[in-house]
Amino acid sequence: MAVGTTIEKITPYISTSYLVIVSMSAQLIDGNKIAAELRSNIKQSVQKRIDLGQKAPGLAVILVGQDPASEVYVNKKVKACEDVLFNSQKIVLQDSVSQQDLLAQVEKLNHDESIHGILVQLPLPEHLDASEILEKIRPEKDVDCFHPFNIGRLAQRIPVLRPCTPYGVMLMLDSIGQDVKGLDCVVVGASNIVGRPMAMELLLKGATVTVCHKFTKDLADHVSRADLIVVGVGIPGLVKGEWIKPGAIVIDVGINRLPNGKLTGDVEFEVASQNASWITPVPGGVGPMTVATLMQNTLLAAETYS
Ligand code: GUN
Repeated sequence: MAVGTTIEKITPYISTSYLVIVSMSAQLIDGNKIAAELRSNIKQSVQKRIDLGQKAPGLAVILVGQDPASEVYVNKKVKACEDVLFNSQKIVLQDSVSQQDLLAQVEKLNHDESIHGILVQLPLPEHLDASEILEKIRPEKDVDCFHPFNIGRLAQRIPVLRPCTPYGVMLMLDSIGQDVKGLDCVVVGASNIVGRPMAMELLLKGATVTVCHKFTKDLADHVSRADLIVVGVGIPGLVKGEWIKPGAIVIDVGINRLPNGKLTGDVEFEVASQNASWITPVPGGVGPMTVATLMQNTLLAAETYS
C-alpha cells in the first residue's frame, strides 16, 4: 500500500440520545516505498562513483551458524547490495567457530581495501563473546553502528554512521513531515540495537523521551500519554491498541512469526490503527528501512573514510 493509504475503521459508541458512528483512521507509513526511494538514490550515487573510476562500496556480511531467521536477513542484505551496485562478501562460518578465528576473520576484513562495511549478524552462538567481536570491527567500517565509538558519537550529538533501525525510523518520520521536537515520545524496549539508540536519535531531535523496559511498572500509563510510540521488543501484541492516544504516531519495530506462519508486530495493529494518526505495518514497515539504511551507511563509510 502507498504512503497515505487510509485504513477505515468504524467505531460505534452510544451518546445520550442516539447512536453516533465515528470513523477513525490511521494512515500507513509504507516502509517498502520509502526504502525503495532511498535505495534508488543510493544506486545513483554508486553509479556516479563508478563513472568517476572510484570503487563501488563493498559490504562483508558474516553469518555464524544456520539460524533460519538470520539466514533470511543476511540473504536480504546481500541481495540489497546487488540492487544498489555494491560489492558484497557473504562469509558463512560454522557455529563451532572459535572466538579467535572469528576475531581473525574480522581483522582480515578490517585491512581489506575493497570492503567499506563489516557486519556480523546477531545473535551469535552462546560460546562467543559478541561485545569483543563487535569492538574488533574498525569503527570506520562499523556500518551497523554497534561499536562503542559510533554509539558514543551519537550520544555526544556528533553522529557519522547511525544505527540502522533507528535511523530508518527517523527517515520514516521525515517522510510524513513529522518533526519530533517537543513531542512526548515513548520507546518500548531498551536493547542495544533498537531501544537505546532510538532514544538517542529522538533526543538529538529535541523530543522528550521515555524508555520503557521489562522493569517498567505501568507500561499502559506511559504509552497512553505518548505522541509517538516506537516499540521494539519482540512480543506479539504487547502494546494494546486501546492504549494509543488519539492522533498518536505508532512505529512498530517488532517482527514476530506466529504459529500459523504469519508475521506480526509488537502492537495490536487493528485497534491501534483506529486511534493512531499514522502507523507502520508489519511486514512492510520498519523492516525494509533497516536494510536500506545499512546500504546508506555503507555508502557513507566508503565516501567518508576511503
Ligand atoms: N540481528 C537482528 N538485527 C540485526 C542488525 O540490525 N544487525 C545485525 N548485525 N544483527 C542483527
